[in-house]
Amino acid sequence: MSIDDQLAEWGRGAQALALLDAAFAQGWITFLAEPRDLASLAKLSQQDPDRVRDVLGALVANGIAVAESGRYRLAPDVAAAVAGDAPMDLGAKVANARLVARQVENVVRTGAAPLTAQEAVVVARSFAFRAGPGSRAVVTMLFEPMPEMWEAMRDGRLLDVGSGVGGFVLTAATMLPGMRATTLEVVPEVAAVAAARAKDLGVDDRIDVRCMDARDFVAAQAYDVAFWAQPFFPADARAATLATIRRSLRPGGLLLVQELEAPSEGPGFALRRLVAQAQGIPFARTIEDLVAECADAGFVDARVITSDFGRVALLTA
Ligand SMILES: C[S@@+](CC[C@H](N)C(=O)[O-])C[C@H]1O[C@@H](n2cnc3c(N)ncnc32)[C@H](O)[C@@H]1O
Repeated sequence: MSIDDQLAEWGRGAQALALLDAAFAQGWITFLAEPRDLASLAKLSQQDPDRVRDVLGALVANGIAVAESGRYRLAPDVAAAVAGDAPMDLGAKVANARLVARQVENVVRTGAAPLTAQEAVVVARSFAFRAGPGSRAVVTMLFEPMPEMWEAMRDGRLLDVGSGVGGFVLTAATMLPGMRATTLEVVPEVAAVAAARAKDLGVDDRIDVRCMDARDFVAAQAYDVAFWAQPFFPADARAATLATIRRSLRPGGLLLVQELEAPSEGPGFALRRLVAQAQGIPFARTIEDLVAECADAGFVDARVITSDFGRVALLTA
């Protein structure tokens, strides 16, 4: 591909992402969940009909909306991704993709990619399940190859380390009415979203949302299972975090860690790694690296499980 063609492709991608991000922010994605004509969209968006026609043209040309007999609606795959039963939040993923682009720029310009609290919320939302039927179906499939972990959670206590906005723990809590959990999240604004979601879902009586550095948590042998969101922990916090988790689990308690993405040669991988490394995060640790890291912290009996969702390891305290 010539550099001009390449540039046109990069530009189109960035512009389409900007369009989709603004379409969420301005309510277009909600308006277009139902088929609507131009006049009703002009009324809903409170914009001039000519401008509305141009925005709709851009949404259709970029595969976000479709036009049929003078009415417009979301393209089927976009509609499915924003439906109430979708497992994850498409708007959050779009916002995060734009954030990563800004971070790449920051790293190249300054060598650093610090996150504001609100950006940390964007990141956490983009990785979180939405706690509806879609995410419950995904969690069921995720745990099929490790029934011992699911059974230990059923009436047990879970320590969720690096909980973000609580995607996993809150979905599990809606599925397992006997499960109790403590969540550890260091960014107050992110922990506040997790606490609000727990309340909305009616599970806040069983979920203890703590805003703190995981390394400072003390609760000896109180937990049956732990989940560590390891891809988000910088190198200098990892050994102490694993020591906390091991101390917190009862003897025989289980730890779950996930390989976020396997190393690859692709350009996207190189960009994400650039950002992670500027944040001190060892990017794309393989499951073998993770098992060795956990073994160094004293965990034993590692079992690696490969599924359609990638690779995870289950270890015993
Ligand atoms: C993006 S979330 C992971 C997703 C989450 N497990 C879920 O199911 O939705 C990872 C979180 O770990 C948090 N984190 C990083 N280092 C931490 C530490 N030392 N103690 C507590 N939380 C930490 C980050 O602030 C981030 O919000």
